[in-house]
Amino acid sequence: MRKAIRKLMIASLMLGAMLFLFSTNSNAQDWTVPANYKSMKNPKAGDADAGNVGKALWDQHCKSCHGKEGYGDGSKADELDTELRDFSTDEVQSQTDGELYYKAIIGRDEMPNFEKKIPSEADRWLLINYIRTLKK
Ligand code: HEC
Repeated sequence: MRKAIRKLMIASLMLGAMLFLFSTNSNAQDWTVPANYKSMKNPKAGDADAGNVGKALWDQHCKSCHGKEGYGDGSKADELDTELRDFSTDEVQSQTDGELYYKAIIGRDEMPNFEKKIPSEADRWLLINYIRTLKK
């Protein structure tokens, strides 16, 4: 009898640990970007965006989840299981352009892949530049 109770306790502890790991897994905190992307140089760094390409892409493809100003309050945000970070904060802005590029274009899970929808390399970097303007 004692043995059975101990087994039950161990099983429930293990289940608890698994649930904990699972619940923290989908957190944006631990999204490791491959080193070759992380150090990627932005060929459009500091360039003016006369045609407002970055903003237009943001409004077309990103705003629905991330919100107009990147606060994570887009119309689709409530449907997501993954927490959206506030793009105006250091948490996002302290990352390299290459890190943001990887996350924005390659994506993972609920963050869509945009390689096909945003095929132009130049446009992708103008979008990264636009993300920089969301900093407060
Ligand atoms: C369908 C909703 C959705 C759309 C549309 C979307 N995103 Fe995301 N995005 C997410 C989710 C969810 C995450 C968090 C993903 C994770 O941590 O696994 C995320 C994360 C990110 C991150 C990483 C933030 C960080 O610091 O961890 C960047 C950068 C990003 N998105 C950029 C974009 C850009 C740029 C677009 C438009 C081209 C876009 N997203 C469109 C849902 C979306």
